[in-house]
Amino acid sequence: MKIYVPLDSAAVALGADDVAAAITSYAAKAGISVEIVRNGSRGMVWLEPLVEIEDAQGRRAFGPLSPADVPALLEGTLKSLGRVEDIAFFARQTRLTFARCGLIDPLDLTSYAAHGGLGGLKRALSMTAQQTVEEVTASGLRGRGGAGFPTGLKWETVRSAQASQKYIVCNADEGDSGTFADRMLMEGDPFSLIEGMVIAGLAVGATRGYVYLRSEYPVAIRVMRAAVDIARENALLGEDILGTGTAFDVDIRVGAGAYVCGEETALLNSLEGKRGTVRAKPPLPALHGFMGQPTVVNNVISLATIPVIFEHGAAHYAAFGIGRSKGTVTLQLAGNVKYGGLFEAGFGMTLGDVVTDIGGGTATGKPVKAVQVGGPLGAFMRPDKFETPIGYEEFDNAGGLIGHAGLTVFDDSADMGALAQFAMEFCAIESCGKCTPCRIGSTRGVETIARIRNGDHAAIPLLEDLCDTMRDGSLCALGGFTPYPVLSALNGWPQDFGVTTAEVT
Ligand code: NAI
Ligand code: SF4
Repeated sequence: MKIYVPLDSAAVALGADDVAAAITSYAAKAGISVEIVRNGSRGMVWLEPLVEIEDAQGRRAFGPLSPADVPALLEGTLKSLGRVEDIAFFARQTRLTFARCGLIDPLDLTSYAAHGGLGGLKRALSMTAQQTVEEVTASGLRGRGGAGFPTGLKWETVRSAQASQKYIVCNADEGDSGTFADRMLMEGDPFSLIEGMVIAGLAVGATRGYVYLRSEYPVAIRVMRAAVDIARENALLGEDILGTGTAFDVDIRVGAGAYVCGEETALLNSLEGKRGTVRAKPPLPALHGFMGQPTVVNNVISLATIPVIFEHGAAHYAAFGIGRSKGTVTLQLAGNVKYGGLFEAGFGMTLGDVVTDIGGGTATGKPVKAVQVGGPLGAFMRPDKFETPIGYEEFDNAGGLIGHAGLTVFDDSADMGALAQFAMEFCAIESCGKCTPCRIGSTRGVETIARIRNGDHAAIPLLEDLCDTMRDGSLCALGGFTPYPVLSALNGWPQDFGVTTAEVT
């Protein structure tokens, strides 16, 4: 029998390697023939390690599994969860970018192709560069790293630039706490990212690509490196892509743990072997990027979505979503939530649907107090904002941001004053030091929040003024967006700072 045991980091952290070892050991003793496939995660972290058995009856899921469950699993007496596709959390999704994640062996290129892989690239190879960019523009895809900039527009800027060498750089420095979509994708379906980068290369005339991957993701690094080797052996990368004579190659580069290196210009500096500090924009990386050449810098999810757009067509992708937020969003539910994991769906569900209905509320069973959307630089949203649809403009209008689509849930025991202070401390620790509002402002901000929490209410206008300066005067999103969590906490829960609503603006 074939048994799928995830190699995904979250599953491994919850004991997947021990389960795999127990299966091998028990099967050998009992004389049961098993083939273990280390797949990616299906995204339901509360069920990890989620193991699937494939036999004459189909594919049945079991989880969360411990080594002690293995004898019953192999003897056929363990109760199954049924098919993964029938589990409510999974059944409600629209899996486009994550269609293969957890379904296939991540390093089996034949299985990748059998499940729709390479179809997008083959179509792109029959198109001109301009048509390829136009297809991306028509899909409405916007950068999934956080800023939501139209991907087609970015690609067109690089395509129309005149240069002897252009580059595709994949930003895989997923530093936002509570986010894991990039990691899950790279661990579970690495060829989709490679295929997306090759299509990007065709579109803009680039022959070299780099994946800048954070050192905190050792499994993703291992899987991506192995996938690149397999892609080269099978003409998915190299001098003769799928026998067409087109050249494109990818290298994996590993970062050194700085949050700011997820900012695209700091990332480019780091990639060039320099200290990871932010560069002033303009010039944009699209015109003056890696080694001073025109460069597409896109997030993992943006690039891994490209093959889907070409396989099914731009119109198919654009049919999902709302307003200017087209396609699907890969929500990551984390923190104090009952059903944590990755949920892919068309934009447009309300925040409340996601937290209460999909996520099942808090893991502690207490009322939800706040949801931080968009990572450590995102605003804390109160339950009275739960009607806000998940969409870029919709969140902007509600005083928040979607960012990389991470949602961290807090119950009513959370101290929002402490969380605001943590947000400022995070900025002070991770600041690259290039600009004054962030470098000095964040440290003064930590002190000022402490003053307010210690009863000095006269410091409130000072904090608000400081946040204005950081928002308007910082060179990048780290200093510029830290006021989101700080001010949303102060305005939304003044009592947690020991002040009244009338004292905050
Ligand atoms: P940005 O708005 O400055 O730029 C967005 C992208 O569009 C960049 O790649 C930029 O070079 C490009 N661009 C802008 N104008 C262009 C033009 N005319 N032609 C071609 N390209 C153009 O935003 P930034 O600073 O790159 O990203 C900020 C976002 O990053 C925040 O919203 C935040 O949510 C997110 N973020 C994500 C993290 C993660 O772990 N994924 C970590 C920290 C922040
Ligand atoms: Fe560096 Fe902070 Fe300025 Fe960004 S805002 S450039 S991280 S000092």
